[in-house]
Amino acid sequence: MTALTDTATARIVPRHVAIVMDGNGRWAKARHLPRPAGHWQGLNATRRVVRLCHERGVEVLTLFAFSSENWRRPTWEVGILMELFVTALKRELTELVNRGVRLRFIGDRAAFSERLQRQIAEAEALTEANTRMQLVIAASYGGRWDIVQAAQRIAEAAKAGQIDPAAVDGACFEQYLSTAGLPDPDLLIRTGGEKRISNFLLWQLAYTEFFFSDSFWPDFDAAELDSAFESYAARQRRFGRTGDQVASRA
Ligand code: FPP
Repeated sequence: MTALTDTATARIVPRHVAIVMDGNGRWAKARHLPRPAGHWQGLNATRRVVRLCHERGVEVLTLFAFSSENWRRPTWEVGILMELFVTALKRELTELVNRGVRLRFIGDRAAFSERLQRQIAEAEALTEANTRMQLVIAASYGGRWDIVQAAQRIAEAAKAGQIDPAAVDGACFEQYLSTAGLPDPDLLIRTGGEKRISNFLLWQLAYTEFFFSDSFWPDFDAAELDSAFESYAARQRRFGRTGDQVASRA
């Protein structure tokens, strides 16, 4: 969690950036292409943004790749997205290792094929010791799922006598979320023109700054990322305090 006592002056480069990569389908439609073409072009944008964040010094980048609700898409599209994830993991792993990136997946991975689950576990193990940047892929992820699974595990620990229910506070609860150990996102970027959270990191976004872009994800580039960072750097993060309090602490 980004502690409320943290410096309230935003750093120029956010420490943790979270992105809802939206607009692949509309990018394709605008070009009279099938939706999968948009997803493959979206993968190119993902590679570009990972490299840019790495170069800019972002410590944690969390990407919303596939939501709990995306399973409701037509079977053929889900199948293509799964194939894309398998291919992307194979193709990108070497570069991620070379860049010192640690990969971490959050979400209900039991819903994936055994092959994908195995690939995910291998990629996590292979990059475990890397410290330059953490790349967190939210896949089969939902903010409500995350909160519910945390509550279930806390209830089980309490039932087993390992935890005192009266001792469950925010800091304790966070240890059971899939993002345990990560700072909360400083900046959330959503492309594609929609202005909603779509069940992303519901708990973790409590004090996050939001940046909405009308660009479709495949078009999101360095100039857009930098304008998101500039917008972020101009914000006053108050974490519940008054503006005067924050200014006097700066
Ligand atoms: C949203 O666009 C995008 C997705 C559901 C898939 C995200 C996947 C990628 C960007 C590919 C690469 C990512 C990784 C991590 C390997 P949409 O289909 O909802 O677009 P629309 O709103 O225009 O229909």
